Amino acid sequence: MPTYEEAQKILAENGQSHVLAFWDRLDEAGRANLLAQVAKIDFPTVARLRGVLADALSGAAAPAAAAPMEPAPVRVLEGAEREAAFARGEEELRAGRVGALVVAGGQGSRLGFDGPKGCYPVGPITDEPLFFFHARKLLALKRRYGRPVPFYVMTSETNDAATRAFFAEHRFFGLDERDVFFFVQGMWPALTPEGRIILDRPDHVFFGPDGHGGTLAALERSGALADMEARGLSSVFYFQVDNPMVDVADPAFVGFHAAAGADLSVKVCAKRDPQEGLGVAVRRGGRTEIVEYTEFTDEQKSERLPDGELRYKYGSVAIHVFSVPFLRREADAGLPIHVAHKKVPVVDASGATTKPSAPNAYKFEKFIFDALADAKVCPCVAFDREEEFSPVKNAEGADSPATCRADLSRKWARWLLAAGVPVPLDGRGYPLRRIEIDPAFAHDAAALAGRLAAPGAPAPDPAGDILLRDAD
Ligand code: UD1
Repeated sequence: MPTYEEAQKILAENGQSHVLAFWDRLDEAGRANLLAQVAKIDFPTVARLRGVLADALSGAAAPAAAAPMEPAPVRVLEGAEREAAFARGEEELRAGRVGALVVAGGQGSRLGFDGPKGCYPVGPITDEPLFFFHARKLLALKRRYGRPVPFYVMTSETNDAATRAFFAEHRFFGLDERDVFFFVQGMWPALTPEGRIILDRPDHVFFGPDGHGGTLAALERSGALADMEARGLSSVFYFQVDNPMVDVADPAFVGFHAAAGADLSVKVCAKRDPQEGLGVAVRRGGRTEIVEYTEFTDEQKSERLPDGELRYKYGSVAIHVFSVPFLRREADAGLPIHVAHKKVPVVDASGATTKPSAPNAYKFEKFIFDALADAKVCPCVAFDREEEFSPVKNAEGADSPATCRADLSRKWARWLLAAGVPVPLDGRGYPLRRIEIDPAFAHDAAALAGRLAAPGAPAPDPAGDILLRDAD
């Protein structure tokens, strides 16, 4: 930890002397806190952030480059091609060469939930949390293929302790805790328009997560990447914590990636409507990239082909497979830094914290999909969103807990109907009763049919709620 004089010097050299503004009013503990905060600031990185901000504010950083772009080619896996990919993926899983990585360091601010987002309850009957559904799919994979799929959970400083405690409290949802690896992403300060670091308390600097692009460096720094290599993993299935429908380590996708010798594969789905907030996979300058929805114009979003289809029909839902050698190559890749104008709590002259009602500062993030720029082989593969995508992002309306629970129930109702259970549905295909199926009981429609046909199987009562759980 620096001394006061050292802190004063380095802050002055970097034009950030105001960080010590409250020094005289702090007690011993407060002073120690503040010096620890100064020790955390990576000044070369702050200089880089200031440069990025100055470029963004002066318009020097041309967003969405002017080079012409076109939609990236998308593969729809069907018939024999799908079967071959599936078989290859199963081979990878049986050999224990596949891991899973969830990014769970975000703050869930749109959802208005205080804890780690993975603790958010989504089970329509049991209120089981997002983490339950992810972990139980990994348990199902382990049972099916006889080898664990090690689970890498990226947290942030803000939610790391709470996330670890939650897993421990839930006995790792049935997983072997030696197969769960938590690692913490980096944190960056936010800056005022003048490039000043922000104090949110007299003895505390505001830091925010460095974006899911921070995964790459964090994997290296934490030893998670070395752990993947030591276990002999060849690929890692990457997904976001907010989507309990995700088909974790889906053999067809994993197998397609392996057979293609891909560095980074991207799952895409047809957008619900032109305005849906999904990044879009495009080809530009001979490369595949994902253009974030915020960087797309309204005109581009709604452009249509002569047959009426959206030109940019497919969105990326942040489900990827990375090859482990590619993760190693990218470990110190300097991904581009994106700037966003946000509301950041700030201390006023009296030392009180105020929460602004309008954006007052700039936050910085790296995006994982910017690694596509370095990927030599990066196929986009389409999937059916009704089976695999319904995220919890907003407190109400689209992509909310209510829509997610309804989509989960509708999917499970389809599985039950396919297994011969007469589930009553409303006109839009949603079940009239509550349904919940533990992924460790059945991970897909065929597995469910098998479990229900087995001797001694539970007999779901279509007139009541249907809850199918696996005994651990
Ligand atoms: C994201 C994607 C978008 C995609 C959509 C699909 C970005 C910038 N955009 O949008 O292309 O179509 O999801 O659902 O990601 N996270 C971290 N650390 C961070 C920031 C985020 O772990 O520093 C995690 C969050 O916990 C979450 C995920 O990344 O699991 C996505 O973050 P979020 O801010 O919700 O992204 P979206 O704007 O919804």
